[in-house]
Amino acid sequence: MDDGIERPGAQQWVPEGADIDALKEAAKACRGCELWEPASQIVFSAGPPSASMVLVGEQPGDQEDRRGMPFVGPAGTLLVQAVRDAGIDPATVYRTNAVKHFRFELRGTRRLHKTPEAVHITACHPWLHAELQQLAPGMVVALGATAGRALFGRPVRIGAERGRVLEGAIPDSDAKALLTAHPSAVLRMRDDPGYDAAYAALVTDLKTAAAAAG
Ligand code: URA
Ligand code: SF4
Repeated sequence: MDDGIERPGAQQWVPEGADIDALKEAAKACRGCELWEPASQIVFSAGPPSASMVLVGEQPGDQEDRRGMPFVGPAGTLLVQAVRDAGIDPATVYRTNAVKHFRFELRGTRRLHKTPEAVHITACHPWLHAELQQLAPGMVVALGATAGRALFGRPVRIGAERGRVLEGAIPDSDAKALLTAHPSAVLRMRDDPGYDAAYAALVTDLKTAAAAAG
């Protein structure tokens, strides 16, 4: 995307060897891409650094941006329910996103979600990398294509690749990985006949991931 916008990337803001709390604090100053400016605040992560399972989403949504917490809006609520239905206590899971600022388009007074581009995923990746180095989890779940691309360093196809435990898929990490649907994709099917199956598939994938997390 040659749009003339400067994106130095997050690396220069990432303190070396910092723990999760220190990363969270340092990330408030990040100017690695242009997304910090229209957003209300950074949404870094939630959950215990001791977690064996990490869930990676795309980017914060409107409500996450307002509250400064990941997965607290409608898609997050669906995800938390799916985690519970998979027999996992959501409080034991670390939740983060591939891109830490909300990207949106203003339509009147409404802020409409805008999918981050590869340039934003690349710019923000140093944070995700630093998190994984600190957490050293057993399992990392990529929720949707943006998370998959950020984690695996290549474009992914959910339909073809979801639900399998992958070894060595994340460069520079020993964690196992599993790709699944993004909860917003499931949420969008709410009124479709395929909704129950899509939700059940998400729960099944989360169960598979938890069983492999160790
Ligand atoms: N969707 C995401 O990918 N992440 C959030 O934090 C909320 C919604
Ligand atoms: Fe930094 Fe990521 Fe926010 Fe861009 S989206 S300013 S790289 S934290």
